[in-house]
Amino acid sequence: MADTLAGPVPHAPDPAPEFPMPRAARCPFDPPPALKELQREAPLTRVRLWDGSEPWLVTRYAEQRAVLGDARVSADTDRPGYPTKASPDAGEGKLSFIMMDDPEHARLRRMVTAPFAVKKVEALRPAVQRIVDGLIDDLLARSGPVDLVEAFALPIPSLVICELLGVPYDDHAFFQDSTKTMVRTTATPEERGAASREVAGYLAQLLGKRIAEPKDDLLSGIAGRVTAGEIDHRQATEMALLLLIAGHETTANMIALGTLALLEHPDQLALLRDTDDPKLVASAVEELLRYLHITHLGRRRAVTEDIEIGGQVIRAGEGVILANEIANRDPEVFPDPDRLDLTRDARRHVAFGFGVHQCLGQPLARMELQVVYGTLYRRIPTLRLACPLADVRFKNDAFIYGVHELPVAW
Ligand code: HEM
Repeated sequence: MADTLAGPVPHAPDPAPEFPMPRAARCPFDPPPALKELQREAPLTRVRLWDGSEPWLVTRYAEQRAVLGDARVSADTDRPGYPTKASPDAGEGKLSFIMMDDPEHARLRRMVTAPFAVKKVEALRPAVQRIVDGLIDDLLARSGPVDLVEAFALPIPSLVICELLGVPYDDHAFFQDSTKTMVRTTATPEERGAASREVAGYLAQLLGKRIAEPKDDLLSGIAGRVTAGEIDHRQATEMALLLLIAGHETTANMIALGTLALLEHPDQLALLRDTDDPKLVASAVEELLRYLHITHLGRRRAVTEDIEIGGQVIRAGEGVILANEIANRDPEVFPDPDRLDLTRDARRHVAFGFGVHQCLGQPLARMELQVVYGTLYRRIPTLRLACPLADVRFKNDAFIYGVHELPVAW
């Protein structure tokens, strides 16, 4: 309390902390310290967004899963209270069923589930191994520092999702560039809108071709739903856009950021370099997903009916942000959570989300990462960072965390 001649004056209540919060400069793999502090203090707290709104931030693992598993919580960005995107200039836009609720969400998701089933994905493993080996051959044929993002991390998931969807890989420079703009928090709504319209227009054309002349690919499957009258052309295009973007940008960032995290933890890298045990490689993938948590600006939802979570009533029409990256560092669930330990059982992580929107592509992402982490460091045991860590540009300006470039040598 501040005292005046008239007596003590009560303080105004502390304003809610701003969200998102900055990471500590020297800890690029750790969530923002202020976020961890909030987790220590309470399972739920109010935060303030750039537009002045104050949604709830859910900080702990158990409460996050409770919210994400609750049908009274909506992923529809048009719902009252839905927390706005990360920055003032981040445009809004709907990206198919990831931003819808059941039953429509489930109806659309079911149309594209089959190719992502574990068995189907496992059948692709030899082809992914060939892609990874081929790219490593190309790397080894070069000398000097190479940007691992451009030469390795981006091509792998892009080649795979192109093959699966039936999108010509020759067009990768175009859709990778547009995707970068779409996930950049500092892009203006106009820039983001233009990028999204460009890729959508491109996919709409491809869908048109598949409607006329179906092939054996996922785009043709989606085109078939249009022909059958189950969805219209716009819905089909949005679905293809979601799959193309989610299919390459996420995994590419996990490959590059995961490699950097391992280079900075040589004892852990040695475990992967010296093993051919698929169980250890699979465990390493789960731990890196937990530890790095690349979808780092929180899952966002609007509450449609009053719910009680962690002793707190959240009212209908209020927004909720689920900070999954600190749920993955919740000491109640992961002992010594800030330690990267490839041998721990990290399978309960929420890096792929939780509930009905849990990542559709997770079997594919897991398989790709297993092939990469199980091959790269064994084939290039001398792989090293070719610049000081301080010079690496981290994607603090993107909805999906990672590195812009990763100069490596061997
Ligand atoms: C390491 C890689 C990946 C990570 C970390 C990741 C993460 C996530 C997360 C956190 C969600 C939940 C979104 C929410 O609850 O709002 C999600 C949903 C989704 N992911 Fe992934 N993802 C990855 C790879 C992929 C791949 C390869 C695909 C393939 C196309 C994919 C397709 C999708 C789709 C379609 C959804 C929406 C599911 C729904 O709303 O029902 N993801 N992903």
